[in-house]
Amino acid sequence: MPFPAPNAPSADLLSRLADLLGPAGLLTDRSDVTPFCTDWRALYHGRAAAVLRPATTAELAAAVALCGRDGIAMVPQGGNTSMVGGATPDASGHAIIICLSRMNRVRRIDPVDLTMEVEAGVTLKAAQDAARDAGLMLPLSISSEGSAQIGGVLATNAGGNNTVRYGNARELVLGLEAVLPDGEVFHGLRRLRKDNTGYALRQLFVGSEGTLGIISTAILQLQPQPRAVEAALCAVADATAALALFAAFRAQDPALIQAFEYMSGAGMDLVTTLVPGASLPLSEPAPAYVLVELATPRANADLRTALEEVLGAALEDGTVSDAVIAESEGQRLALWKLREEHAEAQRRAGASVKNDVSVPVSHVPDLIARASAACAALVPGIRPAPFGHIGDGNIHFNLVQPEGMDPAAFLAMDHRIMDAVAEIVRDLDGSFSAEHGVGRLKPYMMPGWRGGAELATMRRIKAAIDPRGVMNPGAIFPPDDGPDKPSTPA
Ligand code: MLT
Ligand code: ZN
Repeated sequence: MPFPAPNAPSADLLSRLADLLGPAGLLTDRSDVTPFCTDWRALYHGRAAAVLRPATTAELAAAVALCGRDGIAMVPQGGNTSMVGGATPDASGHAIIICLSRMNRVRRIDPVDLTMEVEAGVTLKAAQDAARDAGLMLPLSISSEGSAQIGGVLATNAGGNNTVRYGNARELVLGLEAVLPDGEVFHGLRRLRKDNTGYALRQLFVGSEGTLGIISTAILQLQPQPRAVEAALCAVADATAALALFAAFRAQDPALIQAFEYMSGAGMDLVTTLVPGASLPLSEPAPAYVLVELATPRANADLRTALEEVLGAALEDGTVSDAVIAESEGQRLALWKLREEHAEAQRRAGASVKNDVSVPVSHVPDLIARASAACAALVPGIRPAPFGHIGDGNIHFNLVQPEGMDPAAFLAMDHRIMDAVAEIVRDLDGSFSAEHGVGRLKPYMMPGWRGGAELATMRRIKAAIDPRGVMNPGAIFPPDDGPDKPSTPA
């Protein structure tokens, strides 16, 4: 895509931005800017000329107009929780990071429409809490929800633990406001469940990873708050058994399944040994685990009996070898901790390579078996720790470095490992990025996976909306000069 190289911001531009945003809205000191230039995994290290912190859509739009006019690269950043370097600037030091965290108001919750209007910088957790305080539920839950912000969650079309029931972030968006690269505002804050007036433009921004504009506000669909929730951790032999259990819960009542998560024994061992306060509530470790959560908004639904019915049969026929049901809210949260700390435990275990892949649900056992063998052949001693949203066919096929190996030497293999996994995923009719996006980690894969008319159409859309290529350059699209290799950790 032959975009001109973005320019370096002039002193004049920085002084206009200072006038526009005030001292709280512009950071230029190196020590203030640097923390925004590295992703949370410390895999990507960029540089930036400044960080803008607008407090309103009007400020954001005016700042984007100034930067866009000067051909400045703009990198939107929310909670900086990207798994794929999607919010880290390049090394030129010319980019401006636009941080949305001051746009953090929940503007309105409508209990009749079952909607919430929320600004981009509200953390997902704060949005969930606001919905809960209003007696409702925002049904989107991801491990990084305490830091991840709505703008980034939507820009990456996050999935997470409740997709199995409510869909991805995309399915929750009724309306959207976004600032285009020239500073014009796309006003799409509608609350309509039906609206067939041409293209659903809001959906273009969802999953665009900041390459088309900056999401500033959204209207999200809510759900009634569950009156009963039951969770259980089940020991299983493998992913085939996990899917048999999934089938049993679906046969009982698919509408009760709030989450259905898979964890490998190896991944669980890392959590229980490396994360303080995490322990296995079963008598012995198992080859794999399922965390199942049922929920219903119905009063007197006797969810416990429903859970026990399926688990009882599964224990009897051997699908499940052991299980524990949470007896309190504290125990339920402790079970979730075992699942949510997987990424953190892997970070503590050393360097890791992430493959956020999806395949048709029926192919998950094949994926795990074949990808484990392929990676072991590439790097003897590699530690596969697959886990994730098996109910959606979305497995985080993560691999931890062999014990004692130099982390840099392991990470130097990351493209070969990702390619080996991707080849198997392709053979199983899957996707190389299920819910984390492409970011700066995997644009090199795009031509092979979204080639022909698909990538060409995406490029045309990008060029039509962002003709100077200033919005989050480096994300999604492969640069013309060849594969975009991740930088090695410092
Ligand atoms: C999760 O579901 O916890 C994440 O998407 C994490 C990961 O891939 O490490
Ligand atoms: Zn996930």
